[in-house]
Amino acid sequence: MPDASSDMPLPAPEIAPADRKLGVICVGLGAVATTFIAGVELIRRGMAEPIGSLTQMGTIRLGKRTDDRVPLIKDFVPLANLDDIVFGAWDPFEDDAYVSAANAGVLDTARHLEPIADALREIQPMKAAFDPAYVKKLDGPNVMPDTSKRALLDGIRADLRDFREKHGCDRMVVIWCGSTEIYIEIGPAHQDLDSFEAAIDADDASISPSMLYAYAALLEGIPFANGAPNLTVDVPALRQFASDHGVPICGKDFKTGQTLVKTVLAPMFKARMLGMAGWYSTNILGNRDGEVLDDPDSFKTKETSKLGVLDTILQPEMYPELYGDLHHVVRINYYPPRGDNKEGWDNIDFFGWLGYPMQLKVDFLCRDSILAAPLALDLALFLDLAQRAGMSGIQEWLSFYFKAPQTAPGLYPEHDLFIQQTKLKNTLRWMRGEDQITHLGVEYYADDYLPES
Ligand SMILES: NC(=O)c1ccc[n+]([C@@H]2O[C@H](COP(=O)([O-])OP(=O)(O)OC[C@H]3O[C@@H](n4cnc5c(N)ncnc54)[C@H](O)[C@@H]3O)[C@@H](O)[C@H]2O)c1
Repeated sequence: MPDASSDMPLPAPEIAPADRKLGVICVGLGAVATTFIAGVELIRRGMAEPIGSLTQMGTIRLGKRTDDRVPLIKDFVPLANLDDIVFGAWDPFEDDAYVSAANAGVLDTARHLEPIADALREIQPMKAAFDPAYVKKLDGPNVMPDTSKRALLDGIRADLRDFREKHGCDRMVVIWCGSTEIYIEIGPAHQDLDSFEAAIDADDASISPSMLYAYAALLEGIPFANGAPNLTVDVPALRQFASDHGVPICGKDFKTGQTLVKTVLAPMFKARMLGMAGWYSTNILGNRDGEVLDDPDSFKTKETSKLGVLDTILQPEMYPELYGDLHHVVRINYYPPRGDNKEGWDNIDFFGWLGYPMQLKVDFLCRDSILAAPLALDLALFLDLAQRAGMSGIQEWLSFYFKAPQTAPGLYPEHDLFIQQTKLKNTLRWMRGEDQITHLGVEYYADDYLPES
C-alpha cells in the first residue's frame, strides 16, 4: 500500500478503453433493479432523460474558475456507453423484469413499461442463491436446488461465466439490489480467506447468501457494489481478496432519502457549532423492501447503517457540550398503502446561543426507487471505470452513493455529502492527470497578497 502520508501524488493511471459490451448483473430483480433497468432502456431509446445520474448529467470543473473548462463527466472520463450495457439478474421469484416492475408499481405501466415491454420480458431472473433464514419475510420458488454454501457459490460462478459467454460481454459488474438480510456481525469466519473458505464448507451460518454472491463475483474478477446494508463484501477476507486480485468493490446501502438529507443538514449544524439534543427519524413505506424490514432482524441491519452517520459527522467526543447527550432514533414502519412512495419525517431538536432550543422538521415525500435507480447506474459505470483504471479493493471515492461507506480498516467513513462529492470529483481529476481543486482561492487575489513595493 502506498504511504498515504507522503506528499508525492500518485501518478494518474492508464485507463483501458470502454468499448464492447458491459454486463450489469443485479442480485434481486425487485423495485430498485427494475426501475434502474427500465430507466436505462427508456433513456437509450431517447424516451427519457437520465435525471439524478451524475455520470450522465454531471459536469466537472477543471483548472481555475476563470479557465472556463467544465466538461460533462461522461466526456471527461471514458465510461461505458449505455447502449453497450446488457442486463441480467437473479431473483427467488420467477417474474421477468416486466412483471416484476409492474408489481413494484414504481413506474407507470402505460407510459414507461409497455413501450419497452419486449426488452423487459427478455430479462428472466436466474435461479437465486437464496436462504429464507436470511430474509425471513420472503420465500420464492426460483432458487438453486442444492443449498449447500459451496454449491451456491459454484452455481453463482457458473451463472456469471454463462452470462459472459452468452452475451459476449467484455466486462461485467455485479450490484446487490436484493433484500436486506438479517443482522450479522463480523466474526472469526470472516477474518481471512482460509477461515472464510472453511466456513463455506462447514455451511457456517455467518456466511450469508450475499457474501457468496460477492465472493463469486470477486473470484471471477468482477467488481461488486452493495446497495443494501448487509455486510456482504465488507468483511476482512473479501476486502483483502478484492485488493489482492485487482477487483474494485464498494458499499454499503444506497444513500437515497432520509440519510441523504441527514448528511446534508448535520454538517450545517456542525459547521455553525449549533448543539443538538435529539434527532428523531421515522419512515412509512409499503413496498416489498418495507415488508422485509418489518422483520426485526433485517431492520437491525438497516438501523445500524442509518444510525452511523450522525456520530461521525458531529464528533460528540470532540464537542461534548454540543453533541454529548444526543438522542438519535430511527424507525421504519411498514404501511402498504404507500407502496414505494416513502414518507420520511425528521424532527431535529437543536440549540443555539446560550442554549436556547429550536426545532427543525422535515417531511420528505420521496420515491425510493426513483432515487436509487440513477445511483445503481452511476455505480455500475464508475466501478467498471475503476477496474479499467487498474484500481482495486475499496473504492472510497464512491462513498457519495452510500449510507455506510466502506473504508480501509482504521479510517473513519466520510459522510458529509459535499465532501464525498469533492472526493469523487477529485478522484476523476486525478485519473485524468488534472490538478485537484482545493477551493483555496488566494490565487485569484495574488496582487492583494504581494508586498507593497
Ligand atoms: N430504494 C431505495 O431507496 C433503497 C435505498 C437504500 C437501500 N435499498 C436497499 O436496496 C435493496 C433493494 O430494494 P428494493 O426496494 O428493490 O427491494 P425489493 O424487495 O423490491 O427487491 C429486492 C429483491 O431481492 C430479491 N432477493 C432477496 N434475496 C435474494 C437473493 N439471495 N438472491 C437474489 N435475489 C434476492 C427479492 O426477491 C426481491 O425481489 C433493499 O435491500 C433495500 O433496503 C433501497
